[in-house]
Amino acid sequence: MNIVHITSEVYPFSKTGGLADVLYSLPVAQRKMGNKVYVISPLYKNILKNFEDIKFSGRKTWVDTELGIYEFGIFTTVKEGVTFIFLSNLFLFERGGYYGKDGADYEDNFLIFGAFSKAALNLVKYFIGKTDIIHCHDWQAALVPAVGKTEFYDINAKYFFTIHNLAFQGIFDFDNVLKLKIDPWLCGLECLEFYGRANFLKAGIAMADFVTTVSPTYAKEVLRPEYGFGLDGFLNKHKGKFAGILNGLDYNVWNPATDKFIFDNYDEKNISGKFTNKAKLCNLYNLDERLPLFGFVSRFTEQKGIYLIIDALNETYFGANFIFLGDGDIFARSRLKLIENKPNIRIVYGYNETLSRKIYASSDFYLMPSRFEPCGISQLIAMRYGAVPVVRSTGGLVDTVVDVGSDNGHGIVFDNYTVSDLKNAINRAVNMYIEKKLEPLILKNMKKNYSWVKSAQEYVKLYEKVLNI
Ligand code: ADP
Ligand code: GLC
Repeated sequence: MNIVHITSEVYPFSKTGGLADVLYSLPVAQRKMGNKVYVISPLYKNILKNFEDIKFSGRKTWVDTELGIYEFGIFTTVKEGVTFIFLSNLFLFERGGYYGKDGADYEDNFLIFGAFSKAALNLVKYFIGKTDIIHCHDWQAALVPAVGKTEFYDINAKYFFTIHNLAFQGIFDFDNVLKLKIDPWLCGLECLEFYGRANFLKAGIAMADFVTTVSPTYAKEVLRPEYGFGLDGFLNKHKGKFAGILNGLDYNVWNPATDKFIFDNYDEKNISGKFTNKAKLCNLYNLDERLPLFGFVSRFTEQKGIYLIIDALNETYFGANFIFLGDGDIFARSRLKLIENKPNIRIVYGYNETLSRKIYASSDFYLMPSRFEPCGISQLIAMRYGAVPVVRSTGGLVDTVVDVGSDNGHGIVFDNYTVSDLKNAINRAVNMYIEKKLEPLILKNMKKNYSWVKSAQEYVKLYEKVLNI
């Protein structure tokens, strides 16, 4: 089968979150199953500088809009048998942030990702050729099925659309979106229209042949108003072509036995290296290594439960250390000031893959009290590195973490999105540490298998169903 993925980010070239992880590891797993796989993404600033193996193909493509004609250079590289294709355009993709600057989205995101989606379809038509499945990801690529079906009649492929996060929908004024010269038929209630504006994600749901999200539990949750972000009704309407497939983790990319960025390597046969990692990180950040260490590597947002954590840590001293790596808006930063001077808390702002790996390797526990979580890659990485997950029971966290209270339990799970439930969970963790019950749990987590094998097969089975094979 020939599969083309279209995405706004892909590891290791561009990444702000789990979307990028998935768009490397899923294609590689599909390639290993014998498929021909392409991944199309933007060539952001610095990618060429950091990855010398990416080469200009000598070809270009153009997208015509009312704001001008945009030219895209076509660059490629091959990794693990997957062809990664990058579209370059100085004005659209070389601004610094991918989606915005200083906490505000770019006003012309409709143009950046609308033009990108059209250019990606040009690539399929003129550069790639025979394609069975075009698999689009999140709102940034959500116009692809709509534009493909109304402008690219000769592309004879089926369209898949995966929602990695329903909270981000790409909503713009029609005046702007129509400048992309899309078929006006798409502006109706059954497609783009959303409270008088144009909703890219909604168009993806409407026009794709099949829609997935990234865990079975989230697929059920988003059909309810509490999790639906205004699209629960529309998803219910399309639920006959909607399913949840759990993300996996690439165990070659994330492996404490070979990870070059951590202080000492270790594996489940000998975890002593995990303890030296902790000692070295604590030393670096001037933390008492005898206390339990909780790690957190994430966006500082409501989704990730950062405000619950701030309130819990502001009210209580748990006899534990906490290290946070991530970034958030002005509001999150100002709230974090409440706890950032406490002797047992370290907050590091920014995106830093090296430090993130050190934190996963060094932490006894990994905090993920999400308000909602489509799947979550961080808890999977944490488990792989032997950090016991402390999570709220929502979305993909329900599907990947079982509370130690059950026979096959390996993490700490709490139900309600409240400060008191989170405090109880942290206290349970600290007590387990004090009672020296942690080592068997570390091993249990390291031995868990959330590889892509099963999920990649599930995707291909669904592709076959849609293609009627
Ligand atoms: P998200 O909702 O942010 O996509 P996931 O758990 O699915 O959450 O994936 C987050 C991914 O991004 C993980 O690979 C995590 O290690 C990485 N990540 C998040 N924040 C940072 C950061 N500040 N520095 C380095 N890596 C980060
Ligand atoms: C989104 C979700 C996260 C998921 C990731 C990859 O960013 O917030 O839960 O793991 O996409 O699918």
